[in-house]
Amino acid sequence: MTRAEGAPAPGGQEQDAAAKMDFPLPDWVPDWARKAPSISVVPPGPRSREVVKIDKEFVSHAYDRVFTFTIDRASGATVADVDGNLYIDWTAGIAVMNAGWGNPAVVDAIKKQSEKLVHSFANDTYFDKEAELARLLSEISFSGRLKGTFFGNSGAEAVGAAAKLSTYFTKKFEFISFYGAYHGRIGPALGFTSKLKYRYGFGPMNNVLFTPYAYCYRCPFKLEYPSCDMYCMHFMEDQMMNFGGSTGSLAAVIVEPVQGEGGYIVPPDGFLPYLRKFCDRNSALLICDEVQAGLGRTGRIWSSEWTDTVPDILVTGKAVGGGIPLGAIIARPDIMKRWRPGAHSSTFGGNAIQMAAGIAHINEILSAGLPGRAAALGSYVMKRLRELQERHEIMGDVRGLGLMIGVEFVRDRRTKEPLDITQLQIKCFKRGLLTLTAGIYGNVMRISPPLVISREFMDRGIEIFEEAVVEFEHELSGQAQPSSPPLQ
Ligand SMILES: Cc1ncc(COP(=O)(O)O)c(C=O)c1O
Repeated sequence: MTRAEGAPAPGGQEQDAAAKMDFPLPDWVPDWARKAPSISVVPPGPRSREVVKIDKEFVSHAYDRVFTFTIDRASGATVADVDGNLYIDWTAGIAVMNAGWGNPAVVDAIKKQSEKLVHSFANDTYFDKEAELARLLSEISFSGRLKGTFFGNSGAEAVGAAAKLSTYFTKKFEFISFYGAYHGRIGPALGFTSKLKYRYGFGPMNNVLFTPYAYCYRCPFKLEYPSCDMYCMHFMEDQMMNFGGSTGSLAAVIVEPVQGEGGYIVPPDGFLPYLRKFCDRNSALLICDEVQAGLGRTGRIWSSEWTDTVPDILVTGKAVGGGIPLGAIIARPDIMKRWRPGAHSSTFGGNAIQMAAGIAHINEILSAGLPGRAAALGSYVMKRLRELQERHEIMGDVRGLGLMIGVEFVRDRRTKEPLDITQLQIKCFKRGLLTLTAGIYGNVMRISPPLVISREFMDRGIEIFEEAVVEFEHELSGQAQPSSPPLQ
């Protein structure tokens, strides 16, 4: 089964079936966390403000926070602030807490491991859970076709490892990345990231060629899928490779199978298979960055499974550590084996807590059937959002896969002029719904809740979302909002 932008949305029958299912919160979610949303003090409350004051003085301003509240605890799909407010969480802490905040299996694994060993010293010793997690990742990665794993501490670090392994293996140095791509903000990962706001002031990063992603809603060629015959891919292959792009030294293409920060963009079905063949034709590697879309979020363990595309290197992060910082690459064994001992390293790679948490989290995702739940609940949510879209002109596009759903806001459906939605996000927040935005123009509401979220929480969240949209529309009709600032 595959899914494409422009192809029929996940089946009507599937949506109807999902509408009848409850998708209750897991039994372990405590009573307090079932009471969200509950706003008893207008955020930021006094206790939150105390922390914010100290933070503003001592913590780097590089953080770009929208929610002015101080987080206290979280369970399932509920986040609580220090003033006692409870929020329905549509963020999963940026697509991290897939099996739910405070999942007892993960918490217990961390507790038990910390009593025994915290730092595994795994650069120089062998550690059982490192071997176990590497085996587990291989088992869930295209039935073992990807096998060698290297562990680091974050998504961006893992992307860096993928870049290094690609150049090492191919003895080439150029990369293709995509408009709208996000792969992190350090080293090679920053070079692959496209948004000006993140790149501004850092350079040069000149071994990366950027080409259009299959962003059909805003096709830069003004074409339509499927009659376009995937012109963006032909452009990449012909124009970019032959007319002033590559110097003939392409090491790899790095791609998000569903673009995350770029706006939760689901490309047409042919996109990833095309890239696979393109890489093979050019003796280049295909790196799939599954940091945000992976581990069940889109309805499959890896989003590249939707089109049966096996990458040469798969990058994971975020959810892989169940909330503990962890990133990893899992590669074709012949590629990973090429690295000689000492070719790459990280002091904390294979850390004991990371490994214990990672094993527990992935096992929870598998045993609770969370990919299937994400697919079914996600298709129901998409249906409900499309109903809302009929009532609200500013909802230009609703798209997604599983519980990775984006709503793109525009001033005008015809011109598609982007609409900055920071104020909409704040309106949701004040009502007790946490959301994140995405997109080059900051005009996409992203919906990426913990995969254990209940249908009731999704329904309540949709109600809040619509109330906020209505208020936002009223304000827009009363006053002109400036377009997105250039460094948005
Ligand atoms: C697709 C993708 N790759 C890489 C990263 C970077 O991960 P980290 O923030 O852990 O460095 C992110 C983070 O949002 C991401 O979404």
